[in-house]
Amino acid sequence: DMGGHDTYMHKEIHEQADAVDRVLRGRIDDRFSTVHLGGLNLDAREARQIRRVKILGCGTSYHAGMIGAQMIEELARIPADAEPASEFRYRNAVVDPDTLYIAVSQSGETYDVLAAVQELKRKGARVLGVVNVVGSAIARESDGGIYVHAGPEVCVVSTKCFTNTTVAFALLALHLGRTRDLSVADGKRIIAGLRRLPEQINEILKAEDEIKELAQEFADARSMLFIGRVRGYPVAREASLKLKEVSYIHAEAYPASELKHGPLALIEPALPTVAIVPDDDLLEKNRAALEEIKARSGKILAVAHQEQEKADRTVVVPKNEDELDPILMGIPLQLLAYHTALALGRDIDKPRNLAKSVTVE
Ligand code: M6R
Repeated sequence: DMGGHDTYMHKEIHEQADAVDRVLRGRIDDRFSTVHLGGLNLDAREARQIRRVKILGCGTSYHAGMIGAQMIEELARIPADAEPASEFRYRNAVVDPDTLYIAVSQSGETYDVLAAVQELKRKGARVLGVVNVVGSAIARESDGGIYVHAGPEVCVVSTKCFTNTTVAFALLALHLGRTRDLSVADGKRIIAGLRRLPEQINEILKAEDEIKELAQEFADARSMLFIGRVRGYPVAREASLKLKEVSYIHAEAYPASELKHGPLALIEPALPTVAIVPDDDLLEKNRAALEEIKARSGKILAVAHQEQEKADRTVVVPKNEDELDPILMGIPLQLLAYHTALALGRDIDKPRNLAKSVTVE
């Protein structure tokens, strides 16, 4: 049942405020400015002994994991990174007993992720799952974890589950942070930010008509560049994947800082750039990147917290806490991918050559 929407993708994009409500529900602990994660299976002493976090997933879940790694590093000050599960399992990685491994998967059935989990368990590692589908293979094989509670996601292309997974990671980062050295004040600040998310998501979705208009402009592009720096980079990666999957337009994501090391050579009027420009301590650096693109007559769409002078168009998104901004900044770009695909007459819920869950090697 699509509930009045033409596609599941559209329906699922519009379900995100409710979905985020669900992942937060019953988990916030105002007394200690932290969150309770019932299924984590990690006591405080164990949480304090973690020396590293390694997050594994594929596709969109990998991108959510990149955001999660940044949040864990920022809020809990534990070195953390994300890696495609498929790469990890084939490179004979060193499995370290002081590392917490986290497998991320919407379906909980992606074979590359499952195989990585099994290999890690075989070697005695502790593995948590950040999973949407309750009782799925990855959820069962993990030592514990967090359910993402996005609800059923039917469209092959993941949207609401991505958003909810990033929120689940914010909860984990806050929990680990408050078990270690994150202050009460910062805990309160993050909790207040989390509570603002559903309303801010609805605010973003109100800009749909404006984004639909932009999509008409981009539908004839042969290729697009997505750039972001630090918090904006995984957002750019995910937005680029979303556009590719549903519209079949070639897209490439780059850290904004890498522009001058190569991709600047591509800039010309026919290659539009989408820039993620959060209002954080890197704002001026990002503005400089826009200037470099503008100087080469590149067309720019900025997703930012305030109008960007160098951009041809800016989609303004509501500001949250710096650490939580990535949760929101990709949402307008889900709509951009959707409306671009619609303008091109693509089969949005079932893109060619793709399956909802990849249960084979
Ligand atoms: O079910 P999973 O989260 O494990 O799936 C991982 C990827 O296959 C998935 O995210 C894929 O990239 C989607 N088509 C993204 O829209």
